[in-house]
Amino acid sequence: MFVFQRKIILFFVLSVALASCNIENAGKDGSNIYEIKADSVLSLMNLDEKIGQMTQITINYMLEKKEDGKPVLPFRLVPDSVKSVVTRHLSGSVFGCARRAFTLKQWRQFVKEIQTATKNTRLKIPVIYGVDAIHGTTFTAGAVLYPQEIGQAATWNPQLVEKIGEATAYDCRATGVPWNFSPVLGLGRNPLWSRFFETYGEDELLTETMGTAIINGYQGNDEKIDGKHVAACMKHYLGYSFPLSGKDRTQAWIPELMLREYFLPPFRKAVESGALSLMVNSGEVNGTPLHASHYWLTDVLRDELGFKGVVVTDFMDIILLHKNHHIASSYKEAVEKAINAGVDMSMVPADFHFQRYLKELVNEGKVPVSRIDESVKRILTLKFKLGLFEKPVPDFDNYADYNSRKHMELGRKAAEESITLLKNENGILPLKENMKVLVCGPTADSLKYLNGPWSFSWQGKKEEYYPQRKNTIREAMEIVGGQNVAYCQAADLDGLTDIDKAVSKAAMSDVIVACVGEEHSVEELGNINEYRLPGKQYEMVKRLAATGKPLVLVITAGRPEIITAVEPLCDAVIMCYLPGTEGGDALARIVYGKVNPSGKLPFTWPAFPATISTYDHKYTDENIDGKQAPYQPLYEFGYGLSYTDFEYINPEINDSLFSPDDTIYVKITVKNTGKMPGKEVVQLYASDLYASVTPPVKRLRAFDKISLLPDEEKTVKFRLPVRNLGFIGNDLVEVVEPGVFVLQIGKFRKSIRVTE
Ligand code: BGC
Repeated sequence: MFVFQRKIILFFVLSVALASCNIENAGKDGSNIYEIKADSVLSLMNLDEKIGQMTQITINYMLEKKEDGKPVLPFRLVPDSVKSVVTRHLSGSVFGCARRAFTLKQWRQFVKEIQTATKNTRLKIPVIYGVDAIHGTTFTAGAVLYPQEIGQAATWNPQLVEKIGEATAYDCRATGVPWNFSPVLGLGRNPLWSRFFETYGEDELLTETMGTAIINGYQGNDEKIDGKHVAACMKHYLGYSFPLSGKDRTQAWIPELMLREYFLPPFRKAVESGALSLMVNSGEVNGTPLHASHYWLTDVLRDELGFKGVVVTDFMDIILLHKNHHIASSYKEAVEKAINAGVDMSMVPADFHFQRYLKELVNEGKVPVSRIDESVKRILTLKFKLGLFEKPVPDFDNYADYNSRKHMELGRKAAEESITLLKNENGILPLKENMKVLVCGPTADSLKYLNGPWSFSWQGKKEEYYPQRKNTIREAMEIVGGQNVAYCQAADLDGLTDIDKAVSKAAMSDVIVACVGEEHSVEELGNINEYRLPGKQYEMVKRLAATGKPLVLVITAGRPEIITAVEPLCDAVIMCYLPGTEGGDALARIVYGKVNPSGKLPFTWPAFPATISTYDHKYTDENIDGKQAPYQPLYEFGYGLSYTDFEYINPEINDSLFSPDDTIYVKITVKNTGKMPGKEVVQLYASDLYASVTPPVKRLRAFDKISLLPDEEKTVKFRLPVRNLGFIGNDLVEVVEPGVFVLQIGKFRKSIRVTE
């Protein structure tokens, strides 16, 4: 009876608290309506409830399992485990999937079961579900998957990337999930790293532009996130993408000057554009794991960048401060370090010691309650913004566009705009439909090589999990070329299979399309010891080239592959990246000229495994004996061919003398002088000739992608504040030093002088 009365009183207090938070209350002390609502709920919470909100559990914990620990199929949740997570431990968040995709129906069912369980808690706070929908709704059987980030970057088309974000958000919500652990904002400056394909490439401006575009797509434009959008989670803050050895989650030594010059700005931009959450780098930088760094998580992220959203750890990363990093002598000390550094939510992911230790630490006065309140308020604010209190389970009938034709076409278009033509000699491409084509190679007839990890399973390696109605390269080529397309595998990733047969079939063909690549893994499992195409793929290309037939090399991979030894044997080279479920069709349409390629490399393509460098390298990286220099690209950053020709004419700059507060206006006209409609990426670079910190040879400062019909011309205008030519000085402050700068678009160069 007493308990019943208490429940009624509490329900009354909670309803009054929420109802009294109207818009008029907002803003008086700088808080918004969502923060005020969060405060009102927070004021009702006890310590267990607060710590519960800070805990994120994997769905795996709740799945029914067999004796060997593998989930029972079809997947189902164990009601007692759901109770344990939601009702007993009051966990505020659930994330992820099994190692294999759920069906749409399962997603909806699981989200419903979890949210329904919150009704049996005192405050009925909804759970926030997070997932890695990093190129579409990964982990959902049959979903449309878009190009991985590296391919998205190659489109150089932020509007298109925003659309990918919108469609992904829509499909995520259709599954019941309102929180997406994406985008990766780390720069991909070392192709050895197993997660290179998850980046927007090596350049800071390209990364920040694409990062903000996809965040806008995920979150929409309103402060309240509607039922068709999700919260973005920028990751992995900071410096994760640049481990010294190239191996995942190993030590990184990145001077603060470099962190601030290259790695911090995309996060700063994302914060400015309203990103609602952030995931921390699992690794250590300069001797401190990021999860224990008060400097980066609080001083910089909160005080300097002004981030107000939720900071979530990566997988198990608090306990790993103890177990892997040896910076805490116990799990409990690790909790103390991470929470005091500024972590809001711990992806634990499958035990509740975190809660026990955090409670003890608060009671011992080692973690202040104010620190807990701060985190819980952020988490509740996010839940209010996402509308979870009003509608923890979406109206699933409202998602008619889920996985629709519209989304498939977007996927194909995105893949088409990403695919990059790197070589095309003797006009071999586009192929004519009546040409006899031999399609071969390990990656020609399989969907996994088009998608990579984070697809229908974590590592993405099981071909049978892919939607078989989607076309492989071979199938897509056959759809266009019909009987004129023949197939022979020739090699798999281990070695040659039926190469002799392939060679004799090649003799009867007009052209060979040889598909090469690698089977990517991700995180530690994706570490590589050798940077080369696996198996005998080089030998395969050589044997095919020896037939004397024209050879088109098609690469499906998440990094630039080392192809220098075989590239001269090929008439054409095409980079597909990891183009997603519609990638086979996209490639066939490019090969047959139904679409004009317009992708440009978002990274420098090294000629050799030991010449890893970036376009914005230092002068010393190319001045030493050419043959030994670190910068020896096979193809340069920003490079990519078209089936048409573009002529750049009439470059203009408004002045030649500028002060640091001025703006530079640059104009150039581009004309399509070929016969096919096409798209061109106009790229503006700037070089600071002499500076107090050795300057890079050039930096991308602006770009624009335009479409041109044959004979059409357009004038592209860039507005470049002189401040954008600055760099981080030795005192770690951004500075524009007076002196001469060279601006460059295509082959045009013009010097300007910046005064004091
Ligand atoms: C990855 C994160 C991911 C998380 C949740 C981790 O292993 O590093 O990028 O968001 O798992 O799936």
